[in-house]
Amino acid sequence: MTVSPFLNEVFEAAPQLGKGAALFDAVNPATQEVIARVSDMAEDAVDPMVQKAKSAMKAWAALTANQRTDHMLKWRDAILDRQEDLARLITLEMGKPTAEAMGEVAYGASYITWFAEEGKRLYGDIVPTNAEGRRILVIKQPVGVTAAITPWNFPNAMITRKLAPALAAGCACLIKPAEDTPLSAVALLLLARRAGLPDGLINLITCRSPGAVARRMIDHPDVRKLSFTGSTAVGKLLMRQCADTVTKISLELGGNAPFIVFDDADLDAAAQGAFVSRYRNAGQTCVSANRIFVQRSVSDQFIGKLKKHVAELRIGYGGDANMGPLVNVEAARNVRSLLHGAIAEGADLVWGEASEEDGSAFVSPVILDKVAMNMKIANAEIFGPVGSIIHFDTEEEAVEMANDTPYGLAAYFYTRDMARTWRVSEALEYGMVGVNEGIISSEAAPFGGVKESGIGREGSKYGLDDYTEIKYIRLAGL
Ligand code: SIN
Repeated sequence: MTVSPFLNEVFEAAPQLGKGAALFDAVNPATQEVIARVSDMAEDAVDPMVQKAKSAMKAWAALTANQRTDHMLKWRDAILDRQEDLARLITLEMGKPTAEAMGEVAYGASYITWFAEEGKRLYGDIVPTNAEGRRILVIKQPVGVTAAITPWNFPNAMITRKLAPALAAGCACLIKPAEDTPLSAVALLLLARRAGLPDGLINLITCRSPGAVARRMIDHPDVRKLSFTGSTAVGKLLMRQCADTVTKISLELGGNAPFIVFDDADLDAAAQGAFVSRYRNAGQTCVSANRIFVQRSVSDQFIGKLKKHVAELRIGYGGDANMGPLVNVEAARNVRSLLHGAIAEGADLVWGEASEEDGSAFVSPVILDKVAMNMKIANAEIFGPVGSIIHFDTEEEAVEMANDTPYGLAAYFYTRDMARTWRVSEALEYGMVGVNEGIISSEAAPFGGVKESGIGREGSKYGLDDYTEIKYIRLAGL
């Protein structure tokens, strides 16, 4: 494999992070080839890192907001200068096609730009006093050393989405990237160093089985916040563990997004929106349209239009493809099993082939019609390129089915009726609602869910608050 000098640096750094630690393989899901070896660090690596982070944070928090902004923007520039290399790493590690991977790097950098600027607006308050000779002040301070556990589906952007607000608030961080995608994290760390971010401010811990490392990070008294993106099951476990040390936690967990197409919708726009929401990243996003509800009177028309988009998918690898493999063979097996299960339960395969087990990480895109709410596929997060169509007759029925899930991350609907826009937006029990839009993520908007989809928000001014503590100062004797 020929790679750039920078990627060679990343491959050389990855096994040395742990200084004497065992190693594990980073594997290309498209070819099953080993890309590089990576340090398999254990929980005893955590304490020295927290120590380093604590001392780096002292100086970092003491900088002016402008100085932190300048540092962060240098890191952002270093990332954008290496956009192609970073995109290549994403493709190598988890199979995202080149164009999408380039987009992810730009998306990741947008969080750094946003929070570098927003850090200058971390205002406190002077509250009208309640007593003579006294004043009430409120300031916001960095929460402390933070830990981030990040997922493999956006191996670059989910790191910057957590690190940027932490740095802007004046915190130092430990980061534990997903075991499938450690190399993007190594690259971001090297670029942070190259951009002159102080040593010890960002600390990377790579490992294959994260349980003990996560536990130690949470138990450490100086780690004051954990941010996790991943499955609801793991999120619940981490939340229980955080209770022991009353560590602040934000969670961005699983979803089961409804995508509702009403009969008054612009069906071309709805099919395009459903397509990008469901099939981008080979269906591996938490906000993906997991259940596509279509009003019965327009379902044939809508499905016809959706088929045309799905037919344009070219499965493959890197620059030649617009849909890559899933992250690993196990993930592909799970999606195939859900798909075959749905067909056995009575769903109609109306586009594509239900791929048979072939030991690969590739899964063909398909559309299933006549999915029912009691089928397993309507209740699981599919995380693969399977469009599931469920029919409905009335608005009330659509909203009721949409909300009939323990999840509450993202929801979408298409309509041209203004009154319905308000009614349904307010009725959907979700943290984010896209109206006539299938891609809603942005660094400027609060990303996060309700119910079992999580706690807290990432991105936007709300995302910064999660990394601060409020302090009330009372002045007397005035
Ligand atoms: C995710 O799937 O967790 C993130 C998706 C996004 O930021 O759009």
